[in-house]
Amino acid sequence: MSFLTIGHRGMMGVEPENTLRSFVRAEREGLDVIELDLHLSKDGALVVMHDADVDRTTDGTGPVADRTLAELRDLDAGYGERIPVFEEIVDAVRAPLQAEIKDVAAARALVDVLRARDLTARVEVISFHDAALATVGELLPGVRTALVAEHYGTDVVDRALAVGASALSLDIRRLTLELVERAHAAGLRVLGWTVNTHDELRLSRGLGLDGVITDFPEIRRAVRFTA
Ligand code: G3P
Ligand code: CA
Repeated sequence: MSFLTIGHRGMMGVEPENTLRSFVRAEREGLDVIELDLHLSKDGALVVMHDADVDRTTDGTGPVADRTLAELRDLDAGYGERIPVFEEIVDAVRAPLQAEIKDVAAARALVDVLRARDLTARVEVISFHDAALATVGELLPGVRTALVAEHYGTDVVDRALAVGASALSLDIRRLTLELVERAHAAGLRVLGWTVNTHDELRLSRGLGLDGVITDFPEIRRAVRFTA
């Protein structure tokens, strides 16, 4: 399989993260896959947001889960963009997606959408939460999943296998060749984040990664020079 470049929260280095504008930009820049984050609104909508609170990325304050979708839609998520729901992104771009479950309560809602819209081939489900991936795998056999980790040791390979994941998405600051080789030997793909410089890209290629998550279109363009 070829080396993948994955747009982080759309193309967050150049657009407001997790907005429609950011996802359309990622597709236009030719990213192979587009990554997004999921929470649940108070009334059960699958909203595309990174943080549990709206404070950092909008002009509002307080937890996402305390607001209805209509209330969340009133907020400015950057350049006048509204907080999108997952289904809007599915319709707005054609690229494969990585849907990250931030709030474990969003797992079932995501499964419902993937099943109803027959999206299991297009959407890979990722999460820091082992239990969320296990739930998704049980409810939707055949779905591809990836375990995300920031603080990890070589046991992360066993954790991924235990929940039926086919990939690891790991903070590159802790990645070692030993871990990559162990993961590959276990049949897992390994993705690294966040790769925003040429040095980080060269390191990722040297480690034999299967792909990188990046904030910048420049990294997408640079990949062909690092093969
Ligand atoms: O794709 C994995 C990466 O997005 C995990 O970190 O905090 O940006 O969601 P975070
Ligand atoms: Ca993410």
